[in-house]
Amino acid sequence: MGSEVIVELQRNSINWANVVGEIVKIERKIFPKHESLARSFDEELRKKNSGLLYTELNGEVAGYAMYSWPSSLCASITKLAVKENYRRQGHGEALLKAAIEKCKKRKVQRISLHVDPLRSAAMTLYKKLGFQVDSLVEGYYSSDRNAYRMYLDSESD
Ligand SMILES: CC(C)(COP(=O)(O)OP(=O)(O)OC[C@H]1O[C@@H](n2cnc3c(N)ncnc32)[C@H](O)[C@@H]1OP(=O)(O)O)[C@@H](O)C(=O)NCCC(=O)NCCS
Repeated sequence: MGSEVIVELQRNSINWANVVGEIVKIERKIFPKHESLARSFDEELRKKNSGLLYTELNGEVAGYAMYSWPSSLCASITKLAVKENYRRQGHGEALLKAAIEKCKKRKVQRISLHVDPLRSAAMTLYKKLGFQVDSLVEGYYSSDRNAYRMYLDSESD
């Protein structure tokens, strides 16, 4: 196995376009249109109060996590994905833990996220790291695709 490193994408980094390009390709492959940020990724990332971590492995992007902190009270994990050929090797968990740490540094009380209940791997991972289901949001992704809203409170760790 090659050497793996989790990197925070910097706004002014010279490899910005390459990394975002790779991520957009992965987005298109993994997520259906209504769940994908492929068309708006660059724009999302340029927003203030958001960040992106990616796992660099064998010279490529193996996975990524996006997070944001719209206020001092709460933060969100807005994306988490690992390329199919790199799954079940601990990368998703490492990325999620790193994103949680980034959110905690903002001293937020709650980290929340939305997940399609059918995404059982993601649901299991979120629960493993202490996230709890808050509510079911009907029609969150599209008219027939719901989401669980999940949360992790800072005092619950
Ligand atoms: C969810 C996802 C990021 C997990 O990434 P990963 O690198 O394969 O996960 P890890 O190897 O770090 O696994 C960590 C834990 O997640 C859970 N998990 C991961 N894959 C699982 C699977 N296929 N079935 C059940 N549990 C799974 C397990 O609890 C696992 O811990 P364990 O190894 O001690 O059993 C990956 O499956 C993915 O990209 N899925 C498609 C995109 C997606 O659903 N994103 C979330 C959108 S909200």
